Amino acid sequence: MSGRLHGRVAVVSGAANGLGKAAALRLAREGAHIEILDIKDASQAVSEIRELGVQAHSIICDCTDEAQVDRAVKEIDARHGVVDILVNNAGILTARKPWLTLTKEEVNRFVQINYIGYFVVTKAFYPLIKKSKTPRIIMVASRTYFLANPGQMAYVASKGAVMGMMRVLAKELGDDGIPVNAAMPGMVATPGTQEHSQDEAFNRVMGNQAIKKRVTPEHFAGLIAFLASDDAELITGQMILCDGGGYLH
Ligand SMILES: NC(=O)c1ccc[n+]([C@@H]2O[C@H](COP(=O)([O-])OP(=O)(O)OC[C@H]3O[C@@H](n4cnc5c(N)ncnc54)[C@H](O)[C@@H]3O)[C@@H](O)[C@H]2O)c1
Repeated sequence: MSGRLHGRVAVVSGAANGLGKAAALRLAREGAHIEILDIKDASQAVSEIRELGVQAHSIICDCTDEAQVDRAVKEIDARHGVVDILVNNAGILTARKPWLTLTKEEVNRFVQINYIGYFVVTKAFYPLIKKSKTPRIIMVASRTYFLANPGQMAYVASKGAVMGMMRVLAKELGDDGIPVNAAMPGMVATPGTQEHSQDEAFNRVMGNQAIKKRVTPEHFAGLIAFLASDDAELITGQMILCDGGGYLH
């Protein structure tokens, strides 16, 4: 398979479903070999990816657990010896809940999965990413950080922390030539969002966009593939939205 990511090795967390799966399929379509980390079984995604003619594997892995992530690093090191593209995507979403009703445990759960998980995975894969001639780190974040949606404090805070991590890493990893960016989707229908939101909510969000078209996982996957490509070599420390102009900086 040829393509602009031909032969590169991409690790995508949370790619059993939703945005991660779409990103993994798109990177594969552009020629990358795919390694999926997910707490859920990702064998369906793996077989769809293999049909595209690239290598694909999935590892059951809780991204917040250092021992499990280290085991995944060893397995991928043995298979490929390098990681060119890391897409931190595994996360949890939420129904709206007034901040005063949140418990410390609930807030901590969002911080652990959505923020600490990205840190654990990035730190563990760094030695393999450093070996790449075309390294990329992409953090899937959320524009809710800008929107500051009432009722989403724990989620928004965890995703805001991801932006902070991304900005500092972009500077710290500059000497290694590793671009680090955050990609943010609009509200996209996925198993995660559909647990809490119905069609009416997706249409309402679309109604607030400049371009009134539902954002799909495939739209977002296109942004991920661009950030992974050679064209994005000098794009780093950026927060890029794919939301049809629903939020303008
Ligand atoms: N869909 C949207 O509208 C939207 C908007 C903004 C940001 N995001 C972000 O995009 C990412 C993907 O969201 P989605 O909508 O595809 O959600 P999803 O729930 O459909 O998929 C998330 C995947 O992450 C996995 N996962 C969760 N916790 C994990 C852990 N600890 N270790 C390993 N895997 C884990 C799940 O098993 C699942 O396969 C999330 O980080 C989310 O915050 C989504």
